[in-house]
Amino acid sequence: MPYDYEDALDYSSRWLDVIHKNEFPGVDDAHRIIDESKINFAEHYNRNWLEYRKSVTEAGDWAAVEWSGAGAVFKDVLGREYLDFLGGFGMMDLGWSHPDVVRTVKAQLDRSPMPSQELLDPLRGVLAKLLADITPGDLKYSWFGASGTEANEAAIKIAKLYTGKTAFIVAVKAFHGKTMGSLSLMGKSDYRAPMGPMYAGQVYHVPFGDADAVEKQLEICDKVGIGVAAVMFEPIQGESGAIVPPDDFWPRVRAVTKRHGVLLIADEVQTGLGRTGKLWGVDHWDVTPDILTVAKSLGGGVMPISAVTTTEEIFHPMMYPNPFMHTTTTGGGALACSAAISAIHVTLRERLWEKAAEKGTYLIEKLNELALQYPQIYEKITGKGLLIGMHFKDPETGYKVAAGLFKRKILVAGTLTSAQTIRVEPPLVVTREQVDAFLERLKDTLKEIK
Ligand SMILES: Cc1ncc(COP(=O)(O)O)c(C=O)c1O
Repeated sequence: MPYDYEDALDYSSRWLDVIHKNEFPGVDDAHRIIDESKINFAEHYNRNWLEYRKSVTEAGDWAAVEWSGAGAVFKDVLGREYLDFLGGFGMMDLGWSHPDVVRTVKAQLDRSPMPSQELLDPLRGVLAKLLADITPGDLKYSWFGASGTEANEAAIKIAKLYTGKTAFIVAVKAFHGKTMGSLSLMGKSDYRAPMGPMYAGQVYHVPFGDADAVEKQLEICDKVGIGVAAVMFEPIQGESGAIVPPDDFWPRVRAVTKRHGVLLIADEVQTGLGRTGKLWGVDHWDVTPDILTVAKSLGGGVMPISAVTTTEEIFHPMMYPNPFMHTTTTGGGALACSAAISAIHVTLRERLWEKAAEKGTYLIEKLNELALQYPQIYEKITGKGLLIGMHFKDPETGYKVAAGLFKRKILVAGTLTSAQTIRVEPPLVVTREQVDAFLERLKDTLKEIK
């Protein structure tokens, strides 16, 4: 494609006008935006992405273009309202555009959005202290990035630096992100296999929830002289469909990692900050990991930010002799930190994990009733709090349910490592009435499919 500065100037100028306009687009403008979005995605972003999202495409609405939202409701550019039971893949615990977070971010934006990198940036310190306050045990030092996978990359490096060892034990069907290090720990071949060899150290996968397998793998590594840096799991597996491990799993893994002098990393990128009905997923079993990662809703659904938090002892090699051992220029900037400070404040003030527990218990009970009523459609319901998986007999049925719901103006989606699972993951601020509306429309959908 030849350079076209004139077109880029003109096009950006036109879109800046759209962005700066306060009122909702009129019908003609809306249709223009839809047409342009379709063309731009097909020609310049990812053509197959348009068609691949089956929940949306099978409902015949594949060009729905989102525009704005509040709480658990969002609108497309034509002004049609949808109930959001996907929650941005777990990024919207506080719902769309939480007013407190937006106000905080606007205030910080007017003051200074990004740090100098050389002076002390106060908000980075504030957020690190807040995380020390609210994470379990003596987790105390934090490093910030923008995405979940960055936090996990940092966790991998910290574990290697501290232990001087290279192997990791992780779970089948695990999802830790898609950059090379995190991807090496993934528990499904689809995304790993095409990349060929990645992390050069050893990675051992064990079935999730099987403490015996973890113990055995650690013993084998000991026997053959392979140094294990860390064992890393999601407290409840998210992308594999909200899979809850047996109650003895985390306590046993904690005990055996201590016995072997191996670090325990909890990937709380999706489970952290209330999603599963406790502030942290590991709180369900009163376990303190050595390293904890968090992202997604840490930015309050307003800014991208992630963190890895660990103890002073384990963080020591990140500080001495070289404090620039692991850095990123844009991660943990003032704007992102202001969003996280506000998100943590709202989460604690509203005790959102209790709301997730209460609504989740209700929703899971009702979904289990539906699963019993429609055994030809459902396999099972899993999850805790508002991290819920509806598992269907086959992927096609799952797509039909998601599409049926979208037709009825409810957004849900699949998971990244389980094809026949639909995730139910509304913002934690979802109301009881909205949960009931979801259930009514789901019943309607199931009736139609049956
Ligand atoms: C448990 C877990 N870890 C890591 C990630 C990766 O986070 P991100 O997509 O922000 O890189 C995800 C994303 O779904 C996740 O669920």
